[in-house]
Amino acid sequence: TSVRGVVVAVDGPSGSGKSSVCRQVAARLGLAYLDTGAMYRAATWWCLDQGLDLGDQLAVTAAVRAMDLRMGMDPAAPHVRVGETDVSAAIREPAISGAVSLLSTNLDVRAELNARQRALIDAERTDGSSGGTGVVAEGRDITTVVAPDADVRVLLTASEEARLARRALEVHGTADAAAVAATRAHVVGRDAKDSTVVEFQTAADGVLLLDSSALSFEETVSALLALVLDVAPGL
Ligand code: DC
Repeated sequence: TSVRGVVVAVDGPSGSGKSSVCRQVAARLGLAYLDTGAMYRAATWWCLDQGLDLGDQLAVTAAVRAMDLRMGMDPAAPHVRVGETDVSAAIREPAISGAVSLLSTNLDVRAELNARQRALIDAERTDGSSGGTGVVAEGRDITTVVAPDADVRVLLTASEEARLARRALEVHGTADAAAVAATRAHVVGRDAKDSTVVEFQTAADGVLLLDSSALSFEETVSALLALVLDVAPGL
């Protein structure tokens, strides 16, 4: 008989530290790691690579449905391929970050990617096909839409001030006033656009709120680990 894998769902706005925290927690617990934002980014890369007008919803939806997307879910080396092309670095470029909301607000694209995310999560839940005993999946609508039945559901937030400082440090290498100002338009603007179709600013019913504003990276990892071990003490 197969062991039932644990599913950990984490949502939150950009700059909440979600990705690095989830990756670390997955690595420590031997779970797979699914970055669903990377799937929206890869879909954007794919459409731009084909020269599509991202405002053409029908063409974009058809392209995303036909996309050969392969998610590498090992937390030690997560990667994303479209066909044979490794797009892991390309999808972090500013051109993708600036355009991705055009896809993530397209409801047909969301339906397609939601289905693929559920399939990837279910595979880890039932047989741990990546060799793990479950999965940590993060995004904006994992706790509410993709995996509302997850064993652990967490909304990872941080104050706008903390999120801007972290993102500025990541992108500009410093969190001085100029870097924070340059970051503000991107982060706040993207969250505002994304919020029009998914709610990730307040915790839904039954979703645990973890506020990392005053926590270091290690403290946030420990807090999330504690929440997971609480429901899955065997890990
Ligand atoms: O987390 P990120 O910055 O890599 O996400 C990229 C974009 O994808 C962002 O604009 C929000 C969107 N997204 C989404 O709408 N739903 C998800 N589950 C994950 C990401």
